[in-house]
Amino acid sequence: MPQLIRLFYVSRATQKGVDQVITDILRVAREFNASNGITGILTFDGEHFTQVLEGSGAGVNALMTRITRDDRHKDVRVLSSEPIHDRYFQQWAMNYIYDIRLVEEVSQYFGIIQPEADEVIEFIEDLREYALRLG
Ligand SMILES: Cc1cc2nc3c(=O)[nH]c(=O)nc-3n(C[C@H](O)[C@H](O)[C@H](O)COP(=O)(O)O)c2cc1C
Repeated sequence: MPQLIRLFYVSRATQKGVDQVITDILRVAREFNASNGITGILTFDGEHFTQVLEGSGAGVNALMTRITRDDRHKDVRVLSSEPIHDRYFQQWAMNYIYDIRLVEEVSQYFGIIQPEADEVIEFIEDLREYALRLG
């Protein structure tokens, strides 16, 4: 089995709160990810995206190259990319959370030089809890 990685980035949306943009991203993402062994979660708070991508190193990095070029967001900042044994989001080709309460927390990630690894993992684990609660 290829080595799995989990990548986490934050970015700023180029348009504010456009539902159609999210619908389009999720439609393409869910189809592509499901057939390419990619799982994860996307969050949007009206201003920023965060996304966790899990899969083979080659698969995640190739997808990330495409995502980075996407002009529906900017200031893409990869905060973590680590080998993993187990997926956190294994049942979701791309889960999605919209929550305006993320604005404050995610905004910090653009100011800090490099957030502590523990802090980033805690944030990802919180997203996982949230996703599991919502089912
Ligand atoms: C915030 C954000 C997250 C995205 N996540 C994914 C994803 O998980 N999987 C995916 O296939 N495309 C995702 N996309 C869409 C890609 O950027 C890209 O449009 C899509 O993969 C089609 O690639 P292409 O335009 O090079 O054909 C995302 C786009 C944005 C803006």
